[in-house]
Amino acid sequence: MAEILTASEADIVRAGTLLREGDLVAVPTETVYGLAANAFCEASVRRIFSAKGRPFIDPLIVHVHSLAQAETLADISHPFVKKLAEAFLPGPLTLILPKKECVPAIVTAGEPTVAVRMPAHPLMRRVLLSAGVPLAAPSANPFGYVSPTTAQHVQDSLGERISWILDGGACACGVESTIVLVADKPRLLRPGVITREDLERVLGVPVEAEKGHLEKIADGEKSSDSAQLAPGMLKKHYSPRVPVRLFENGALPEIPEKAAIVFQTRPRGELARRYAGHAQVFWLSENGAQEEVARSVFALLRRLDNAAFSSIFIEKSPEKGIGVAVNDRLSRAAAK
Ligand code: TXA
Ligand code: MG
Repeated sequence: MAEILTASEADIVRAGTLLREGDLVAVPTETVYGLAANAFCEASVRRIFSAKGRPFIDPLIVHVHSLAQAETLADISHPFVKKLAEAFLPGPLTLILPKKECVPAIVTAGEPTVAVRMPAHPLMRRVLLSAGVPLAAPSANPFGYVSPTTAQHVQDSLGERISWILDGGACACGVESTIVLVADKPRLLRPGVITREDLERVLGVPVEAEKGHLEKIADGEKSSDSAQLAPGMLKKHYSPRVPVRLFENGALPEIPEKAAIVFQTRPRGELARRYAGHAQVFWLSENGAQEEVARSVFALLRRLDNAAFSSIFIEKSPEKGIGVAVNDRLSRAAAK
C-alpha cells in the first residue's frame, strides 16, 4: 500500500523533495490524478512506464508551474500560445510544442515535440513550486485501465507499485486535459472540458480534430517499434474488465440479465419504471449537465467494474461541447 500524503505544508514539502530527488508521487490535478516524476531525470521517468505497464512509444505530458518554466522545455513563441494561456491557463489544456534539447527523449517517445500542461489544482501547483522541476505525469492508472479521479482509485490500482499518493480530493473535471497541437493550423488531438468551440473562439481559426499519437501508430500512419504491443492495445483505453456497450442518447435498449444500465440523467417516471425490476439502473448526472457527467464517468465505471455485472450498458452523451470528450472516453472504454 502507498502512503497517503495530505495538504499540510510538511507533506507538500515532502512530496516536492521526493519528486526532485527521483521518487514517483501520485498527484491530484483538476482533470485526473497523475503519476509524477522529475521530467529531467531519465531513470525516474522510466519508473513511471514500468509502474503503469505503459509502452515507451506513448509520450508523457510535462507539468509546469508557469509559462516561464514552460519556456525552459519548449518553444513557446507561437502567438497562439499567448492567446491560449491568457484564456485557459492554468487549466485543463495541454499544448504540443517544439521541444528543447534538455527534455529527455524518453519523455517524448523520441518526438521533436513535447506536451506541456500548466494545471490549476491548488495542491498540484504547490507541489510544482516545492519540487522546483517540471513534472512528467501520465494519468495514474495501469496502462489501458480507467483513469483515477480520487486518491483511493490510485491506491486501488497502483498502490502495490508506488510508495506515495498525495490526496487532493475528487478531481473537478473528471476527464483528461484537452490536447492541442500548436501550429498555424492548430489540431485537437484529444477532446476535454475545454472544447473545440472554446479553442476556435479564442484562436479565431478552425481547429480540426486529428487522431492522437497512439491511434496514428495503431493505424500505421506513424512508424514505431511496437514490439511491446499486444493487438488492440492501442485503441482500447479507459477500459473496465467488464464489457462496456454503448447506446445512443435517448434510446431504450434491451439489456441482458445481470447487466447494469447507465443513463446520462437520473431516470424518472416511465423510464424509471421500464427498467425497474430487471436491471440495476445508474446515472451520470441529476439533470444531464455535461460537467457533472464528465466528473462522474470514470468513478462510475470503476465502481461498476468492481460489482458483479455481466456487462455495462451506457447511454452516450449528446455529441457537442463537453459531450464530445465524454463520448471519446466511452467509445474507447467500449472498444474491443
Ligand atoms: O489531464 C491530463 O492531461 C492528465 C493529468 C495527469 O495531467 N494526464 C494525462 O496523461 O492524461 P496521459 O499520459 O494519460 O495522456 C497523455 C497523452 C497521450 O495520449 C500521449 O499520446 C499524448 O498525451 N502526448 C504526449 N506527448 C505528445 C506529443 N509530443 N505529441 C502528441 N501527443 C502527445
Ligand atoms: Mg492516460
